[in-house]
Amino acid sequence: LKYENITVENRGKVALVTLNRPKQLNALCSPLFKELNDAMENIQADSKIGAIVLTGSQKAFAAGADIKEMSTQTFIDNYKSNFIADWTKITTVRKPIIAAVNGFALGGGCELAMMCDIIYAGEEAKFGQPEIKLGTIPGAGGTQRFTNHIFSNTENRNFVFLKRLTHAVGKSKAMEMVLTGSLISAQEALSSGLVAKVFPSDKLVEEAVKTAEIISSYSNPIVMMCKEAVNKAFELSLNEGLHLERRLFHATFATADRKEGMSAFVEKRKAKFEDK
Ligand code: HXC
Repeated sequence: LKYENITVENRGKVALVTLNRPKQLNALCSPLFKELNDAMENIQADSKIGAIVLTGSQKAFAAGADIKEMSTQTFIDNYKSNFIADWTKITTVRKPIIAAVNGFALGGGCELAMMCDIIYAGEEAKFGQPEIKLGTIPGAGGTQRFTNHIFSNTENRNFVFLKRLTHAVGKSKAMEMVLTGSLISAQEALSSGLVAKVFPSDKLVEEAVKTAEIISSYSNPIVMMCKEAVNKAFELSLNEGLHLERRLFHATFATADRKEGMSAFVEKRKAKFEDK
């Protein structure tokens, strides 16, 4: 398929999606999002693909929503079209998405990265929610998802404690970014849990693809169950979350791949998953 604002390349079982408006620092115009949504739908339907890497250029993952496009929009335009609503379509993709962020991930660009499942950053990456400088606020999850991601990085399962920890650690950092528009470095993003790993800029995409290859080597339905279970941790109470997790765990015993995975261990050989 031919796209104008993105490219899609298959690397074995990994789909590499690259935002491709380098001159505009990958500003996220509406046509770009239409293409991205279309590509993600096709990738979700493609049984040969197990995981996705989403990246931009060396200078910018994405410098935000397209300010030139937004500059003439009115409230009524945005309300009627429900501007931004279609951006969240990417969060309905069931296969894991790794955001590989080099350069700027600002405003909607930072939010797009946060809609992915894992964020890897290049050493020179800069994250921020500078909307306040434009007289507006984050509109695609920037005030909501940020703390979630810090929360997701914590392994302690004590829910009440975690919620308080989120407010103590996540809120202050998120408020600082949203209220000042200041940018944080890859290292700061790493220490606050926004990104999972930092790599030299020129190695970033290949490292993200390597991780995506590892994920793709597992059973795709089981991978999707893992993603579903982790995402539900943000929405359900601890008891409901544990219940869902246990039922999904039970459900894995209805798959041939679970049988194969355990048999392979017992027989001391490599498992051969067939996505069934
Ligand atoms: C449209 C953009 C853009 C954007 C950069 N460009 N960001 N165009 N929308 N978000 C364009 C510039 O106009 C310029 O085009 C070209 O890209 C290169 O950018 P420069 O500014 O010349 O580059 P540089 O001096 O290196 O500065 C880089 C930068 C700066 C610091 C990232 O471009 C910047 O501050 N951009 C805006 C960042 C921002 O405010 N993002 C939040 C957007 S609001 P020309 O034609 O002049 O060469 C948002 C709302 C989200 O995202 C809520 C709803 C989703």
